[in-house]
Amino acid sequence: MSTAKKTYKRITTHVLHSMKLKGEKISMLTAYDYTLASIVDTAGVDVILVGDSASNVMAGHETTLPITLDQMIYHAQSVVRGCERSLIVVDLPFGSYQGNSKTALDSSIRIMKESGAHAVKLEGGVEIKESIERILTAGVPVMGHLGLTPQSIYKFGTYTVRAKEEAEAQKLLEDAKMLEEIGCFAIVLEKIPAKLAARVAKELHIPVIGIGAGGDVDGQVLVLHDMLGLTKEFNPRFLRRYLNLRDEMVGAIQSYVRDVKSTDFPDKNEQY
Ligand code: KIV
Repeated sequence: MSTAKKTYKRITTHVLHSMKLKGEKISMLTAYDYTLASIVDTAGVDVILVGDSASNVMAGHETTLPITLDQMIYHAQSVVRGCERSLIVVDLPFGSYQGNSKTALDSSIRIMKESGAHAVKLEGGVEIKESIERILTAGVPVMGHLGLTPQSIYKFGTYTVRAKEEAEAQKLLEDAKMLEEIGCFAIVLEKIPAKLAARVAKELHIPVIGIGAGGDVDGQVLVLHDMLGLTKEFNPRFLRRYLNLRDEMVGAIQSYVRDVKSTDFPDKNEQY
């Protein structure tokens, strides 16, 4: 059981801020359904992200673009029902906040009202500043997301490491400072050089959570299905697999099929 689990009854944005001040690392994982969310919450994960990666791992889409606001709300409602302690952050899906701050506000209010989650996450920097500012006016906490932003995959055309060149690194740094200045409570940095991520974490007062951004940030996030080994094809360098659950599940299900075919299941004790 983590120290944080013993210390904090419910994780809030204020708790995350004090964890940064104390140098206590923040753990974050995705979840999209009641059962897995309750396992993640019980295990003491500080932040649960209802990520739009649900589009990939739950719905089987190639990108995060197709998932809808209604679908995100459905996932968020299930996660909220499974959690007692973690802070729950929900991704605003593609098309629900870009280019129109009123739409961004409406989408965020729907998420907060209909799911009971605690905060929203948006991808991007200065280009979505107005949307973030408007969401914040409603008292909805916002987490930023910079670096590799999967909703813009067709603009970049590749999932490779971002901000390797000086100009992009400089823009990322400026965007991160802007996000802090306008009131985001934390930011995610995805797939950028560790040195740049460390600089951002050092220069910002809000928590910086990394995925493929090295260890010198304030916390780490992974996609639950990847770290449990439920997914197979996705193997970036930053991913540590803690289980090979897919293989174990295939084995268990094959045993069930064998037992049904051989009439070993059910036995006398498994019937009425
Ligand atoms: O949707 C998601 O899972 C994410 C994480 C990769 C940070 O945004």
